[in-house]
Amino acid sequence: MRKKILIINGPNINLIGSREKNIYGKTSIEEIKTECEVHGANYYNFEIEFRQSNSEGDIINWLQEVEKKFDGLIINPAAYTHTSIAILDSLKTITKPKIEIHLSNIHSREDYRKKSITAEAADGLISGFGKNSYLLGIDAINQIIK
Ligand code: DQA
Repeated sequence: MRKKILIINGPNINLIGSREKNIYGKTSIEEIKTECEVHGANYYNFEIEFRQSNSEGDIINWLQEVEKKFDGLIINPAAYTHTSIAILDSLKTITKPKIEIHLSNIHSREDYRKKSITAEAADGLISGFGKNSYLLGIDAINQIIK
């Protein structure tokens, strides 16, 4: 059976490619989605499901699907990284491999971005590799699963 990996993106990630390109790069969310699908399928035979929402409630509802429907989770909580105890609590209920990722290096940015509230519940954190953070996240999930 093909393993299913859910990738969740938080607020404003739909705008990457045009938003603060110097920080987040020129690649659009659609292109990143395709690269993730191709990378996951070609290297690991993973089926990738890629979602984005600007709403914390959607993200929490999706996190609550992971335990029953998916074999692993990659999440870029975006600004909720720095604020959301609700997302942290949801992540804590998930026993499947879970990796937090960021396009930018949150530790080299403003002080309010240096703290991730949500990473406490992740198996690991990948931050600062641009769109490759997503692909490295898929590699990391494979390392944990295999
Ligand atoms: C981000 C970093 C966050 O601080 C920011 O709010 C984002 C994107 C990243 O991928 O680098 O929206 O999660």
